[in-house]
Amino acid sequence: MSIIVGEVIAINGVKITLKVFEESSKDTLYYLGEKYKGVSIREYISIQRGFRDIICIVEGEYLDENKFEKDGNKTNYIRKLDAKPIGYFEHGAFNEGIKYLPMIKDSAFLLKEDKISEIYSKGKNDGFVIGEMLKEELPISLPWQKLFNSHIGIFGNTGSGKSNTLAKLYTVLFEQKVDVITDKSKFVILDFNGEYTGEQLIGEPYKSTLKLNTYTASEDKFPLYEAEFWNTETLSILFQATANTQRPFINRIISGRDRFRDVHNSLFNYIKSTFSAVFSAASPKAEALDLLRNISSVLGTDELKDTLKNIKWIGGNAHSFVGPGVNDYYNADGVTYARVLGDIVDQIQTNNLDNFDELIVRANLQLTRDFINGYVQFEHIQPLLKRIDSSLSGLRKVICIVEQANNFNLLTVISLRKCNQEMKKILPLLIAKHFYQQHKNEVENPPNKTMHLIIDEAHNILSQQSSSEHESWKDYRLELFEEIIKEGRKFGVFITLSSQRPADISSTIVSQLHNFFIHRLVNERDLFLLDNTISTLDALSRSLIPNLSKGNCIATGTSFDLPMVLQVHRLDKEKQPDSEDVDLESLWT
Ligand SMILES: Nc1ncnc2c1ncn2[C@@H]1O[C@H](COP(=O)(O)OP(=O)(O)OP(=O)(O)O)[C@@H](O)[C@H]1O
Ligand SMILES: [Mg+2]
Repeated sequence: MSIIVGEVIAINGVKITLKVFEESSKDTLYYLGEKYKGVSIREYISIQRGFRDIICIVEGEYLDENKFEKDGNKTNYIRKLDAKPIGYFEHGAFNEGIKYLPMIKDSAFLLKEDKISEIYSKGKNDGFVIGEMLKEELPISLPWQKLFNSHIGIFGNTGSGKSNTLAKLYTVLFEQKVDVITDKSKFVILDFNGEYTGEQLIGEPYKSTLKLNTYTASEDKFPLYEAEFWNTETLSILFQATANTQRPFINRIISGRDRFRDVHNSLFNYIKSTFSAVFSAASPKAEALDLLRNISSVLGTDELKDTLKNIKWIGGNAHSFVGPGVNDYYNADGVTYARVLGDIVDQIQTNNLDNFDELIVRANLQLTRDFINGYVQFEHIQPLLKRIDSSLSGLRKVICIVEQANNFNLLTVISLRKCNQEMKKILPLLIAKHFYQQHKNEVENPPNKTMHLIIDEAHNILSQQSSSEHESWKDYRLELFEEIIKEGRKFGVFITLSSQRPADISSTIVSQLHNFFIHRLVNERDLFLLDNTISTLDALSRSLIPNLSKGNCIATGTSFDLPMVLQVHRLDKEKQPDSEDVDLESLWT
């Protein structure tokens, strides 16, 4: 059998108290050539009950005194243990959960080391090893079958080893399964700090890297389909449109574009009639002239720009505008317009317009129309136009509009390191939406392919606290990710996120995660959140979190029967994420 260490003396609910025989306080013991660990906190013991071995984890240890009268008041100390059952062995297989409890006088034995790895990897050892158990130093094979079809959260303070764990997890996955997962699964990493753009995770030809850059023009751009760009939701995301007035406005731009899409020269005709409408409106508007100037600055000839520059608003009832000649008064009959501007406007070329410019032109046209017809308040929509104007120069550098579906590689790393703050918020949303929609359209039921979205430093986009942005827009952003995390599983879409501050991330999102790798965390708010959202975290493992060292983490969640403390292996130098601590000794010499 094994080394007997004590016997049960009390059972109180699921708390078991054992009396321990003195010798067993040694660290390591040998019995019939096998190695055993002595009893101490977080070690395992096995209590025999009939044909079953009930496995308990030691939670506390103390001394109790005992006085024997007849020995002349001599005090004896008895060593006692508190233990909690975690499961049992039956017919040689481990089952987790408290189904059987021991009884008083049952004997307790030490557990052989190989039994421990059987408990944690359920006897299945298919070599999916990212690390070893911290205390036992046993390599443990993770249940990949149940892990990668779940949402995963990796949490821990800065420098605690999150990126290493994340990278290790997927490096091992690709090393072992690359042949069988290509064509069936896609992996996308949103990389805020450019940590995964080198040799990490997997090499050519399976990996492609997009280094998006909003500061200088570069080759790498994220492809959106035309239909995806000309979509109310997308444009509302891109330009942070407010829900009540700006969104319907965008909607009108798009539906107008769709309605006349097959009509020859429709945009040109639309421009022409809008110009004419402004200068012969029944109730003319001064602001409309500015909007026309915006349009001409995108596609007008110099002559048009000059002419518009010299036209002035004079208000009044009889006439609205005058110029460039002192007698060029415009009124509702349109005669002056036809004479002065008609031919110049006819010179406009709309053929070489790209999608971004077309958007500026259409937005200005739409506002002009809506405004002179009295549909909208100018000041409600104008901020949107300003935003379109100011964001487009950045967007142009990071997005391209394509006609054909792009076929992404097994792994796509999208680095946002060189993006400005605004784009760091917007692009992840756009990218996630793109992949999610595309996957949803292609996938069958039940899912015949999967899509894995990996977000390192997820607090960048999923935090509830950022006060710098518009309320409704923030909701929208969280909503999309909340939808993915709530509904994604049905379509085979899974999220892995890593963050320093779980408490900052929307609680809807954290509470929907299935599995966790928790590194060192010291902040009370974070720990409190974990207590409340992770049902599988027990008190003993929880108490370890603030004191874990680099690369140690607690793995827990629906895919693990029991929480376990892992020492994640550090990746080889060239496979490590580019997030090394600065080595001052070498830097400052
Ligand atoms: N398992 C490990 N064993 C030993 N060292 C490790 C381990 N994991 C990470 N480290 C080291 O710790 C440092 C920080 O690791 P890492 O970048 O993974 O932390 P992080 O939690 O992602 O930090 P941040 O939140 O700042 O991104 C690195 O220098 C790395 O080499
Ligand atoms: Mg990191």
